[in-house]
Amino acid sequence: MKNIISASVFILILLAMISSQACKHQPDVTPNNNPTSPTNSVSCDPDSVYFENSILPLLVSSCAKSGCHDAATQEDGVILDNYTNIMKTGRVKAGNPSGSELYEVIIETRSSKVMPPPPDNPLSAEQQALIKKWIDQGAKNNKCIECDSVNVTFSKQVTSTLNANCVSCHNASSTSGGVSLHNYAAVKTNVDNGKLIGSINHRIGFVTMPPSGKLDNCNLTIINKWINDGAPNN
Ligand code: HEC
Repeated sequence: MKNIISASVFILILLAMISSQACKHQPDVTPNNNPTSPTNSVSCDPDSVYFENSILPLLVSSCAKSGCHDAATQEDGVILDNYTNIMKTGRVKAGNPSGSELYEVIIETRSSKVMPPPPDNPLSAEQQALIKKWIDQGAKNNKCIECDSVNVTFSKQVTSTLNANCVSCHNASSTSGGVSLHNYAAVKTNVDNGKLIGSINHRIGFVTMPPSGKLDNCNLTIINKWINDGAPNN
């Protein structure tokens, strides 16, 4: 009997060691703790969940209410009104939904434990899945911008795309490949000679641009649409 007990204690210790090793393999994510500024803002990718676009509005409307988890009430010390508070007081573990208090309580099936508590409805399956996915993807303080490629103008979207992706190498003093893209006249020259549309769409016979890889869909759509519209100086 003693042998059996000590053998099972040994196995338990072994299992504990293995599982603590396993924890070390979780993604190494360093969250940005500034509640006001997400780490980056990019065009929305349909496969990603963005904190500021989806998670914050959901938690604020469902949890950070008066009498619950707003800054004034702080029920159970939990405040769910901004990124820092959500990560800390919601005990969110990036990459590990089932180890995150915030996720555990929203998927609770016991009515005495589930959040939001009755008489409020639990979060929908879609909302639960959204929070799970956000934590799985690293619980980042991120946001995205919906692609604004409907009313494209040179002064707004085109200039901002070129400034962000091209102008560092193609300006008045640095004209890589003899190309500058820092103002309308310079850009229009490369519209008229076909080089702009050829290079960004990776057409045969052109150097592919930018060198770091094709523009994302939103930026590509913006430039192509503006050229199709006749490349106006608007
Ligand atoms: C990191 C620097 C860099 C960035 C960023 C960059 N380019 Fe270039 N680009 C170059 C260089 C270098 C060449 C010349 C390459 C060659 O001739 O082999 C070039 C060439 C070109 C050409 C001439 C292509 C041809 O076939 O003659 C065009 C047009 C162009 N770039 C447009 C762009 C646009 C549009 C962007 C942004 C979407 C961009 N570039 C971003 C460095 C850059």
